[in-house]
Amino acid sequence: MDIKALKGRSLLTWLDFQEDEIRALLDLAKQIKEESKRGEVKQRLLGKTIALLFEKNSTRTRCAFETAIAEEGGHGVYLSMADIHLGKKETIEDSARVFGRMFSAIEFRGFKQSTAELLAEYSGIPVFNGLTDDYHPTQALADIQTLEENFADCKGRKICFIGDGRNNVARSLMVISAKLGVHFTVISPPGLSPDKFLTDKCKTLAEISGSKIEITSDLNAVKSADAIYTDVWVSMGEETKKEERRELLKPYQVNEALMHKTGRKDTIFLHCLPAVRGEEVSAEVIDGAQSRVWDEAENRKHTIKAIMLASIGSL
Ligand code: CP
Ligand code: NVA
Repeated sequence: MDIKALKGRSLLTWLDFQEDEIRALLDLAKQIKEESKRGEVKQRLLGKTIALLFEKNSTRTRCAFETAIAEEGGHGVYLSMADIHLGKKETIEDSARVFGRMFSAIEFRGFKQSTAELLAEYSGIPVFNGLTDDYHPTQALADIQTLEENFADCKGRKICFIGDGRNNVARSLMVISAKLGVHFTVISPPGLSPDKFLTDKCKTLAEISGSKIEITSDLNAVKSADAIYTDVWVSMGEETKKEERRELLKPYQVNEALMHKTGRKDTIFLHCLPAVRGEEVSAEVIDGAQSRVWDEAENRKHTIKAIMLASIGSL
């Protein structure tokens, strides 16, 4: 497929994308990373402006967007909720209409997926989901890029997500895996598995792409995994659940004993970050030889650049 067909597209969830479209973005991200390692400077966002809306905190996503935009000659305008009226003094629809008159695209990180959808509907410009309560699609693309850097083609590989399977990161990984033919296993305590509606949808998609989606509470399901993935036990906005989650998830820490259960020495460890050492992951694992979390964090920038270039850049 021609990457130019992605011109003007929003990325709200990978559910809206076909396998070959995601493949084209991964290929572009790989090319962008190689260009960057060669020190090549391009200006493919020259004259483009992107509103960077943040309701929640961010290190990687904000830095990835801001540096990617600057490197490509565009301009990003960071707008936290302390700066603008969005959804407070002004409706989301009205703010969206104004952004649409001034910017080339919007990045949105926040609580509700419906806010990202409203921004896309009323601005008329592409919206890139930088994390909502429901999804974290730009993270999932970087995760697959990292998987492929270690195992070539992701098709037929197995990712095991361990922990809060309801969360945005697990849900986006499940969708992108189902689309790309990656086997995806969620290992979580009962009550923290992904919702049935999305799981059923992904199982149907996985049948088409040739992969398997498995939901279990059995830690032995990590056997022969290519990648072990975890995320914080308490996502942003759920701080009141801290004690409850610690109790539920204590047996699900990714540590050396769990990595050993894969039966492989080349299984990689992934984490979207930020991480809490001693909770969802032990220091030995995240700082150990199998960890690829820093490559994964770097890949946020290359993949986010690919998404922006495909949608609003000159390619
Ligand atoms: N992984 C990720 O999205 O990190 P930030 O919250 O720092 O953006
Ligand atoms: N699930 C985490 C991801 C952070 C990047 C959160 O939403 O806080």
